[in-house]
Amino acid sequence: MCGIVGYIGPRSAAAICLAGLKRLEYRGYDSAGIAAISDGQLDVRKVAGKLASLEEALQAEPVAGAPGIGHTRWATHGKPSVTNSHPHLSTNGRIAVVHNGIIENYGELREQLIAEGFKFLSQTDTEVMPHLVEKYYEGDLREAVRRAVLDLQGAFAFGVICADSPDELVAVRRFSPLVVGLGEGENFIASDMGAIRPETDRVYVIDDDELASITRDGVELTDLALKPIEREVFVIPWPADAAEKGGHRHFMHKEIHEQADAMHACLAGRLSSPDQPIVLEGLQMTDQEIKGLRKVVFTACGTAFHAGLVGRFVMENLARVPAEVDLAAELRTRDPVVLDNTLAVVISQSGETADTLVALRDLKAKGARVVSVLNVVDSSIARESDGVVYIQAGPEIGVASTKAYTLQVLTIELIALHFAEVRQTAEHATLRALKEALLAVPGQAQTLLDREDDVKAVAEVYYQMSNSLFLGRGVNLPSAMEGALKLKEISYIHAEGYSAGEMKHGPIALVQPDLFTVAIAVAGEVYEKMIGNIQEIKARSGPVIGVANDGDNVIGDECDHMIWVPPSPELVSPITIAIPLQLLAYHMADLRGEHIDQPRNLAKTVTVE
Ligand code: G6P
Repeated sequence: MCGIVGYIGPRSAAAICLAGLKRLEYRGYDSAGIAAISDGQLDVRKVAGKLASLEEALQAEPVAGAPGIGHTRWATHGKPSVTNSHPHLSTNGRIAVVHNGIIENYGELREQLIAEGFKFLSQTDTEVMPHLVEKYYEGDLREAVRRAVLDLQGAFAFGVICADSPDELVAVRRFSPLVVGLGEGENFIASDMGAIRPETDRVYVIDDDELASITRDGVELTDLALKPIEREVFVIPWPADAAEKGGHRHFMHKEIHEQADAMHACLAGRLSSPDQPIVLEGLQMTDQEIKGLRKVVFTACGTAFHAGLVGRFVMENLARVPAEVDLAAELRTRDPVVLDNTLAVVISQSGETADTLVALRDLKAKGARVVSVLNVVDSSIARESDGVVYIQAGPEIGVASTKAYTLQVLTIELIALHFAEVRQTAEHATLRALKEALLAVPGQAQTLLDREDDVKAVAEVYYQMSNSLFLGRGVNLPSAMEGALKLKEISYIHAEGYSAGEMKHGPIALVQPDLFTVAIAVAGEVYEKMIGNIQEIKARSGPVIGVANDGDNVIGDECDHMIWVPPSPELVSPITIAIPLQLLAYHMADLRGEHIDQPRNLAKTVTVE
């Protein structure tokens, strides 16, 4: 969950690390720090709070020299404070360590090290590492890190520097993401490629239990037995400025507005015309295997889980395969039955979410074939999957997921349609109409983005209220849940996403003039029932924002305010409906003056269970 960066080369490490940390701040942001080797000594700056405070500290008292390492923290052990922030130092003050992950056996290691005379300053699990490295250091930093790591249980990506080995930066990983960036006469490490993309587009993606010894001029990769590893250079496929805000006030706003283009990219090469079959290279499944499927299990966390809910609906509806969806954190607690020919569809923007990775492993161990729907290339989940279909969204930095969601749904719809085609479970005309609708989605997305001011006007009416309900049915129940999640995570307005059919069994008790309801009532099977639910709320003096199709004259009279969306088949409608709901959340949060890209207590990539 934390982010790490490191640099070795002729330039000053602090500036490069700070710039990299800014691109990683979405991973955590309750404290930050930097250490560099300057004139044979470690120079360290640490702050509690956001990176802006670290930047100020560095301006007041600059840190010169290299190599250096930096860290932005999302607390797991020990409260956010200067003492608990990274880098952590060894007892002799010569070794500095940054860490992402959790060391599970830190308690016993800490006791042992204290008994051996090492001095602990923080409450963190991380601090055992610099002391262990000091314990094993006999002039060879890589060897000391290697021996230290052999003592550890848990998850980690470490960056380590030592004032007595000033020409080396050592990095190692187990379960937490790590890349080494390759420059000319300089090299980098980072938790993800985006952090160092402006510096280089060439990286080594480091695997579990791999150790990197990095100098200005080279990188040596080995396993933990020091056996050399040959790794192909991965060329980052997006431009250097893709992770910058590009004129938008917030990453979230930029990412909402990137959706139309990203949808084009996601469809490219996969669906070119309603008369052509869908091509999904990454799926790695033969027609025979698709025909033989007995069950599909979707699993994910957060927003990606909502994409899974849509997935279950379209998979059953179109491909006629029994489908389930489970929160990744819950899946393993219920020991699911995995039949022969079960396909697990694992959905994740980052590909690093710990619960999702564990769920993947459980399903795989029970014999499921795993296809993942991912954004970040070459992530941990990608590497453990049998097939990967990338959503092609480009980097998503805003903590509240937006473009990843709509592209996850789009990608899953493509998978379900492809299965239906192969299994011949849907009429040709139905499939053709749905393909046509998917091809129209990028244009409709652009139309909705062009109508942003209309949504903002609605936000201006309601943003001061404290409570809301989001209601939907069928394939748009997940849309209601996702709309509510977006609103609550960035505006802190209490929002419940609920089945409109369940409203009478509880939430209706909450309805009163100061609770607003967002009711999704686009054309389709559940339309009439939604109108009935809206009337029930209106009868109890609850204000209603309707989400309906352009030109629907009936619903406009029922609701207090409207959000209009271009018509599409009900099965495809969750993709476009998400966009104005993202904008509604964005503008309400903005009007309330909240930190949109860094909502309190949340992190973009949750690498702890
Ligand atoms: C965090 C993020 C969410 C995301 C969820 C799952 O909670 O804040 O935006 O939906 O993790 O992340 P993943 O990377 O697996 O999609």
